[in-house]
Amino acid sequence: MKDMIKPILIHPDPRLKKLCAPVTDLSDELRKLADDMLETMYDAPGIGLAAPQVGVLNRLIVMDCIKEGTPEPTVMFNPEVLSSSDDENVYEEGCLSIPEQFADVTRPASVRVGWIDMDGNPREKDFDGLWATCVQHEIDHLNGKLFIDYLKPMKRQMMTRKSQKMKRERARG
Ligand code: NI
Repeated sequence: MKDMIKPILIHPDPRLKKLCAPVTDLSDELRKLADDMLETMYDAPGIGLAAPQVGVLNRLIVMDCIKEGTPEPTVMFNPEVLSSSDDENVYEEGCLSIPEQFADVTRPASVRVGWIDMDGNPREKDFDGLWATCVQHEIDHLNGKLFIDYLKPMKRQMMTRKSQKMKRERARG
């Protein structure tokens, strides 16, 4: 439903650089936000979205890395990387807050993640492949970190300038 789609903040924006607060009370309002974020992510389309990207500075991410077949909408409150593999993986990453720009980022190939689910239950799971990259990318958002922060300064500045330009163009409509 279109009325659930939230505007996504475009880098640079101070809200994308903030440390987000843990969720202490899993309210209906936050559950509704999680549903809206999933709709927003699918609509974009994207495979992950973090609450600060829609201007909410709470520790909440949504993901679905299934490209074909049955969707796996995943909601995580207070997600945390519990352990990371020594072996690494390189993926060409993008971000809905840095539209149409991509770059290779190296991260641990698999991670164990703990979080609180929509029903308020603690969960733990191992992720690998695209899911591992995605969950690490989204958790970074909750710590004010973007994938371009892994790149060399020149490249990061170039991508920031392009994003700034796109943001201005979109604002003009
Ligand atoms: Ni992102």
